[in-house]
Amino acid sequence: MVTSTREMVQDAGVRGRVLDVDAVRADFPILHRRVHGKPLVYLDNAATTQKPQAVIDALSRYYTEANANVHRGVHFLSGIATDAYESARSTVRAYFNAGSDREIVFTRNATESINLVAHTFVRARLGAGDEVLISAMEHHSNIVPWQLVCQERGATLRVAPIDDSGELILDELERLLTDRTRILAITHMSNALGTVNPIAAIVKLAHAREIPVLVDGSQAAYHLPVDVRALGVDFYAATGHKLYGPTGIGVLYGREALLEAMPPFLGGGDMIASVTFEKSTWNVLPYKFEAGTPHIEGAVGLGAAIDYINRVGLPAIAAHERDLLAYGTQVLESIPGVRLIGTAREKASILSFVMQDVHPHDIGTIVDREGVAIRTGHHCAQPVMDRFGVPATARASLAMYNTRAELDALGAALEKVREVFA
Ligand SMILES: Cc1ncc(COP(=O)(O)O)c(C=O)c1O
Repeated sequence: MVTSTREMVQDAGVRGRVLDVDAVRADFPILHRRVHGKPLVYLDNAATTQKPQAVIDALSRYYTEANANVHRGVHFLSGIATDAYESARSTVRAYFNAGSDREIVFTRNATESINLVAHTFVRARLGAGDEVLISAMEHHSNIVPWQLVCQERGATLRVAPIDDSGELILDELERLLTDRTRILAITHMSNALGTVNPIAAIVKLAHAREIPVLVDGSQAAYHLPVDVRALGVDFYAATGHKLYGPTGIGVLYGREALLEAMPPFLGGGDMIASVTFEKSTWNVLPYKFEAGTPHIEGAVGLGAAIDYINRVGLPAIAAHERDLLAYGTQVLESIPGVRLIGTAREKASILSFVMQDVHPHDIGTIVDREGVAIRTGHHCAQPVMDRFGVPATARASLAMYNTRAELDALGAALEKVREVFA
């Protein structure tokens, strides 16, 4: 039965406060494959995470036992599919501690969640001379949508700077919060630097001036416990494929009063209450924002992924990843010519680095031959690269199933890079 993945899961799992990494690894089938004849060392988790068997099974069970369209049918399967979809929404709501399922909108990804807010909340409030404030460590997904609406409305995009360690300069951010600021849109955790921003404090600064805050939680959501009510955010965007779930499913949390007041984003089926040729009226939340047939199995898979994370336990995951980050930092610092980009005091699960006289693409290509998957490039954060004066970095990014031995494998592969370029 798809609605209840809990009883069905066969994962070796981990329960308790300490993460048993061998048991976790047993739950991720892809980690057992080899690449280029070597064991896979997957360190590209900030781009997307691998999926546990529980998620793969939930997707397969959905199509084997439940597939039908949601919300529209009186027949048996439609009821099961609707229950599965809505149960996934409740799982997401609990994970982020939102107050109501009405505050959880399923989207395609974090990018769409941010665009939804830009177009249906901010655009109408933006006039010539108004401002949108972001930070200098944003992913392109939290830059370009704001540029588009600013250009259209004659408004200005302002950018709060970061220091040489990759930390936000809070005084500067505060100075940039003015009576022209219509929204502050800021990442919870940088995908290029690993910096974790003090969101609760930032929200207080913005709310003191009645400025709403959207937080891009794409990275934070699978590394840190997130409580949208404790943080006080107005909107929180997340993306399923980084949360160990499927691609094509994203989440927008929005405070109910704000979502109520916003017009729809896309028009079509399911988002309406009534349609005539003269006029249409809108469905209740959250369906007003879910036009057309949704990504039902994506939501079901995301629900299963969050169930899995909950079984392992986010505090245990965070502690394990903290240990890995400290260890990986040592490994990289011990390699001559390696320089870490992003050394904030509050940082999680990202090791971005450059190597003297070696282009990051060459690093990535050589370590790949050793079975080590890292990402090289600008990580969809070109302004961050500009800030640090580098064209690109190599980035190893961690997830719950990584081990110290894998970081040793990265270190050994980087020694090979040094030999090639010696
Ligand atoms: C910080 C951050 N924001 C936004 C995104 C966009 O996620 P998606 O492409 O799933 O919408 C990413 C993905 O890399 C990210 O790391």
